[in-house]
Amino acid sequence: MKILVTGGTGYIGSHTAVELQKEGFGVLVIDNLCNSEKHVIDSIGEITGQKPLFEQIDLRDPEATMEVFSKHNDISGVIHFAALKAVGESVEKPLEYYHNNLFSMINLLKAMRETGISNLVFSSSCTVYGQPDQLPVNEKAPRKDAESPYGNTKKISEDIIEDTVRTTGMKAIALRYFNPIGAHGSALIGELPVGTPNNLVPYITQTAAGIRDHLRVFGNDYDTPDGTPIRDYIHVADLARAHVIAMNRMLRNQNKDRYEIFNLGTGNGFTVLEVIKSFEKVSGIKLNHKIVQRRPGDVEKVWADTTHANEELGWKAEKGLDEMMLSAWNWEKSLQAQKNKKS
Ligand code: NAD
Ligand code: UD1
Repeated sequence: MKILVTGGTGYIGSHTAVELQKEGFGVLVIDNLCNSEKHVIDSIGEITGQKPLFEQIDLRDPEATMEVFSKHNDISGVIHFAALKAVGESVEKPLEYYHNNLFSMINLLKAMRETGISNLVFSSSCTVYGQPDQLPVNEKAPRKDAESPYGNTKKISEDIIEDTVRTTGMKAIALRYFNPIGAHGSALIGELPVGTPNNLVPYITQTAAGIRDHLRVFGNDYDTPDGTPIRDYIHVADLARAHVIAMNRMLRNQNKDRYEIFNLGTGNGFTVLEVIKSFEKVSGIKLNHKIVQRRPGDVEKVWADTTHANEELGWKAEKGLDEMMLSAWNWEKSLQAQKNKKS
């Protein structure tokens, strides 16, 4: 069976393409390469022994999107990762974010409707919960007003999917990711942050690699054990595995509703200082860091209630924080080795 993976040369999409191929699925990747590189297709091939099919198209273009569906008429399901995802940039460029993320979503759903493809897995985010009133947060918790246009595109996309499912024969699963980190064990694929990273873990590994002088820890006056914010970090390989399970659930008609939502996290929260400590332990490097002011828009603490995913999907995150940090560090070292080879 062939699965279309949009954004499949990106961070989470590439890991999911690997897991899909490991489970025997054929994979067709579409990506416009605005935040990834084509050689990722070769790396996926190196890991799995099979290169996925690749079409370089922009999902904002309805004709190009439809053409892919007409050309590949044996697609059984779609996993939709393609989106712009930089929170800060979305505040500066709201129209670009709404245009890219929502047009892509709409064009994809139209092409699926027209070609009768009924199974969709969508990348959502725990950002839809804002600061939850109760922790751990489960899927029934109310969604809060989005802190950014990026977050709003996730909320609106969930609504678009729910409305579409209601009026077509389509089925969909929205997966709300907590904080994906780490890289594939081979260190052949991982996150490729463009410019200065906004997220904690790439900033840590770049600091340790000497690219950044020091990590700024955004605030230590939160109501948490050491004063720094708490997040639920999840290994990207665990996350990727959940997508294959979600797709199989729909292909085997095991879904309980035509539209379902699952949290994907470990269920454990760690503070920023605990993440740094774990990195120092696995790398043997003392990380230069300074406490600075809070970052506007940051929530204090959030971690997932994963009961629904554990019970319904039979999925549980397996990898712990140390393993996540070690894989992130190995990936950073492999990136630096590649750069040194080129220069
Ligand atoms: P990524 O940027 O590495 O991958 C996204 C891919 O989509 C990129 O390869 C990019 O080139 C492609 N793309 C973007 N717009 C496109 C378009 N119009 N047409 C075709 N391709 C396009 O991001 P990621 O971290 O792998 O995230 C994947 C998905 O998961 C995104 O939807 C993101 O919002 C969501 N998500 C990510 C995180 C995270 O922390 N990484 C957390 C929650 C949700
Ligand atoms: C951010 C986004 C979220 C998005 C997610 C994945 C915000 C407010 N939220 O989540 O919508 O889904 O990325 O892309 O931007 N930290 C530091 N120093 C740093 C970087 C981060 O101390 O240089 C801290 C932050 O304060 C936070 C934690 O590390 O407490 C994790 O930050 P980050 O990796 O950016 O993820 P989130 O803010 O949780």
